[in-house]
Amino acid sequence: MGHAALIHTYRKDLWWVRPLLVFIALSSFVVYATWAAFQGEYYAAGPYLSPFYSPELFGNSPHSWFGPKPMWWPAPLPFSPALLILWAPGGFRFTCYYYRGAYYKSFWADPPACAVSEPRKTYRGENSFPLILQNVHRYFLYLAVIFVFILLYDAWKAMWFTDALTGEKTFGIGVGTLVLTTNAVLLGIYTFSCHSFRHLVGGFKDKLSETPVRKKVYHCASCLNRRHMNWAWFSLFSVAFADIYVRLVSMGIWTDLRIL
Ligand code: FES
Repeated sequence: MGHAALIHTYRKDLWWVRPLLVFIALSSFVVYATWAAFQGEYYAAGPYLSPFYSPELFGNSPHSWFGPKPMWWPAPLPFSPALLILWAPGGFRFTCYYYRGAYYKSFWADPPACAVSEPRKTYRGENSFPLILQNVHRYFLYLAVIFVFILLYDAWKAMWFTDALTGEKTFGIGVGTLVLTTNAVLLGIYTFSCHSFRHLVGGFKDKLSETPVRKKVYHCASCLNRRHMNWAWFSLFSVAFADIYVRLVSMGIWTDLRIL
């Protein structure tokens, strides 16, 4: 018996469209991001650094913090700077409350949509192993906040171009600057609209009126939080596009237009 026979619903609308779109979009992102992370090349172009490779702790580009590939890297493993860091933003997104709701529906039909039955009898929820591990989200949040500041710094560095003749750095803005800056801002909004962030800045308090500054921050976080799903998708597309942009410019396929 296939899933269709096991799923029961009185819904007459196209309830399966959204989980299907989520399935396609998330699968495409994971496939692309994995491919890009393993490339280990074409991730930097002039002052631009792909967000998949930032911070570049070790690597061959001028953006590297601690020099080239470390000696301790196991020889049989292919080296790529992205593999050292991508687990942090990846873990943050994977454990995000919004994405959990979205991929539980679209990837393992748990349930496929609201008011649609699921193709299984037991329900273990997130209170038992393995899904209880999703609680690490709040710790990934701390890392994600650090990443936001690193990417904002990258956006700042993307405004300083090295003069080919003098070797001096001069201020400028290219399309790549806009791509990286937009991406850092969108990732920042996604991060600060996080449910865990909202809890951290005020949600855990019974009375916010006694702490006016906290109350203000909490209201800002709540305001962003209302559109958390939108920020999740905008930032997902922007981070993938930023990598594609830097990659194609670095390969010489796209030319980065200078605006200033
Ligand atoms: Fe989505 Fe925290 S809930 S990032």
